[in-house]
Amino acid sequence: MVSVWRCEICGESYIGNEVPTQCPFCGVNRRFIKSARIAKANFDLTLNESDLANVKHALMVELSNAGFYFCAAKNTDDEEGRAMFKALGKVESEHASIWKKILKLERVEVKPENCSKRNLENLMESHNRETKAIEFYKKAAQESKDLRLKQIFAALIEVETDHLALSAQRM
Ligand SMILES: [Fe+2]
Ligand SMILES: [Fe+2]
Ligand SMILES: [Zn+2]
Repeated sequence: MVSVWRCEICGESYIGNEVPTQCPFCGVNRRFIKSARIAKANFDLTLNESDLANVKHALMVELSNAGFYFCAAKNTDDEEGRAMFKALGKVESEHASIWKKILKLERVEVKPENCSKRNLENLMESHNRETKAIEFYKKAAQESKDLRLKQIFAALIEVETDHLALSAQRM
């Protein structure tokens, strides 16, 4: 029977017969997706100085990566590549939205970044960006004592690791 499912990491909801294997918005594992009747997604956090600096940095990283992926989605010389980079751009924009909600920012826009016309170069750039995102989120998760923030960092480490696998499989 059709139901409403809600992701406890990004807070977005999905209508379908079954729980998706990954959140269709932010890409996190299905264990973070619950029936919308019981799901909880809190973005009202009180952050210390170090967490605040890490959340601001996370927003910049995700916006920059989304900008790169949207550029690659238009310019890369491979059809599957264009589809993949567009999907990645949407996921990274959703990650940026998580940080925007926590920072209580209204309008923060993704600005286009430079990319190549060559798919292989874009895959290498993706690999590099995802590696850096994973390293940063691991460090941020270790530094934080806030359980909700740690949960979000950990969930996104898994998603960025999936992204890394996509480029690794294709290079
Ligand atoms: Fe991301
Ligand atoms: Fe990613
Ligand atoms: Zn989600």
